[in-house]
Amino acid sequence: MSDSTAPETATSTRPKTTPTRRALVTGASSGIGAATVRRLRADGWDVVAAARRADRLETLAAETGCEVYAIDLTDDDAVAALASHLAATGGLDAVVNNAGGAFGLDRVEDADVDDWRRMYEINVLGTLRVTKAVLPLLRKAGGAKGVADVVNVTSTAAQGAYEGGAGYTGAKHAEHMLSQTLRWEIAGEPVRVIEIAPGAVATEEFSLVRFDGDAEKAAAVYEGYTPLVAADVAETIAWTLSRPDHVNIDLVTLRPRAQAHNSKIVRGTGA
Ligand SMILES: NC(=O)c1ccc[n+]([C@@H]2O[C@H](COP(=O)([O-])OP(=O)(O)OC[C@H]3O[C@@H](n4cnc5c(N)ncnc54)[C@H](OP(=O)(O)O)[C@@H]3O)[C@@H](O)[C@H]2O)c1
Repeated sequence: MSDSTAPETATSTRPKTTPTRRALVTGASSGIGAATVRRLRADGWDVVAAARRADRLETLAAETGCEVYAIDLTDDDAVAALASHLAATGGLDAVVNNAGGAFGLDRVEDADVDDWRRMYEINVLGTLRVTKAVLPLLRKAGGAKGVADVVNVTSTAAQGAYEGGAGYTGAKHAEHMLSQTLRWEIAGEPVRVIEIAPGAVATEEFSLVRFDGDAEKAAAVYEGYTPLVAADVAETIAWTLSRPDHVNIDLVTLRPRAQAHNSKIVRGTGA
């Protein structure tokens, strides 16, 4: 059967006439979040860049023309205020729940309960808080313009275990289940739920944060192979958002070529 039987409404990208859309990107003060702001601005989106460090967001705003919203996403009231701000200033077409991170690499028997708590607070509950708060805005925008999007940046840590990783893998598995469950719950509504699961990405802060500022340990994570960079992930996010309205990219897993699994990275081969 030839392609000519495809329905006429099926297109490979969103129509160019789509009205300007507005995205909220969390964790925008560094790494993948900042790269996503740059990429979406380049693609013509209005972008609200959110994180705690206002100075870094202001620098990004001067570079890209994004809006800035300084916020701690572990604060319920602050997230409610963010949603009210978005509602009063043009609504929202997409949220990129990217804020997150890993704290420590301790075996379960040595685990620091506070580190685990912090990982759940930002990766899981931060994503939950923001998603709940902005879902009414996304429904409204999706209803008016065709589709709106929730994009959750999880990790390959959401797909399996590695030694020392239980706090982070547990949090990312929970974020994965939040994504999958929400997709089931709102299927048929004009809001897509997209999950992006990167492997090792060399961002300036992720491993530094994980190892509490130990630059040597952080650098060692990326030695001997070519890791992903933040722009690789940003490009993938932008691609999922640019699919036609009827297409939901459920999950994209992207890794460096040298990484076959969380704990299998081949170093020293030039990959
Ligand atoms: N790098 C990797 O290898 C990798 C791989 C897979 C998945 N990921 C995931 O990708 C996402 C981004 O990672 P990245 O490498 O870009 O990390 P990063 O450079 O450390 O960025 C983390 C971002 O989260 C923000 N953030 C942390 N706590 C926050 C809070 N309480 N409230 C608001 N914002 C908060 C930080 O901003 P402030 O400190 O200014 O608040 C920062 O902008 C994370 O969810 C991470 O788990 C990373």
